[in-house]
Amino acid sequence: MSAQIIDGKAFAAKVRGQVGEHVAALKADHGITPGLAVVLVGEDPASQVYVRSKGKMTNEVGMKSVEHKLDEATSEADLLALIEQLNNDATIHGILVQLPLPKHLDEDLVINSINPAKDVDGFHISNVGLLGTGQKSMVPCTPLGCLMMLRDHHGSLSGMDAVVIGRSNIVGKPMAQLLLGDSCTVTIAHSRTKDLPEVVGRADIVVAAVGRPEMVPGEWIKKGATVIDVGINRIERDGKIKLVGDVDFASCSAVAGAITPVPGGVGPMTIACLLANTVTACCRANGLAEPEGLTA
Ligand code: GUN
Repeated sequence: MSAQIIDGKAFAAKVRGQVGEHVAALKADHGITPGLAVVLVGEDPASQVYVRSKGKMTNEVGMKSVEHKLDEATSEADLLALIEQLNNDATIHGILVQLPLPKHLDEDLVINSINPAKDVDGFHISNVGLLGTGQKSMVPCTPLGCLMMLRDHHGSLSGMDAVVIGRSNIVGKPMAQLLLGDSCTVTIAHSRTKDLPEVVGRADIVVAAVGRPEMVPGEWIKKGATVIDVGINRIERDGKIKLVGDVDFASCSAVAGAITPVPGGVGPMTIACLLANTVTACCRANGLAEPEGLTA
């Protein structure tokens, strides 16, 4: 293996440490405690794990954590009423509705009912538009975490060729916007892309966010490129359940200059950035200077 490992676990711990310092200062200097509300509808096991982990880490950095666990059969009207209540609650600075929602609920309607200033996921159409036009916004957590790691590794990203594989609203599209904002030449590749190996082979930066286990082999990667693996896929191998990314780590790490592992790469950065976004939202809500280095 020749690639440098980008240690997302250590980086996320550092970000959480910075968030914790800002939280302590907000309390000591202004008597304000940032508050994050997480709404979970239904019993999806993966979502339950994420929500538990979010609550634990929110408390660990000294913020207020509120969890609303609603029944699978919750009506849209009841969910919208809860969001309205949280929008109007001055002790809550960030609201996250865990996705996916049960099928009978309109995800777009629900997300767009969150006050954009409290939309710490950055999924509200106002935040999507602000990000796309280079204005101050709430930035989706996973792409923000990827950007932080890329900036930390490279310094400036200006002029680099970046290929984002995957066009989701949660990762692919906002990731492309962020890379464009840092003056990369950006290509978004997806399932209909012609000659994906050729497209990926041009990239100085590859961000894989497709949700298909180990679909990017080392042969596609340009020597020395930086590979950011957003995938978290559970597969069975040798009779054991294993977590793997969207890139084949063994072959890609032999060619890449730097690579994020799975687990321990992008994953831990997502929650760290959620906490960072909550502090940012809290500072903005109170007309205070935003923490440096924790936003795009
Ligand atoms: N489900 C999977 N990832 C996410 C995320 O980043 N935010 C929310 N709200 N739900 C998710």
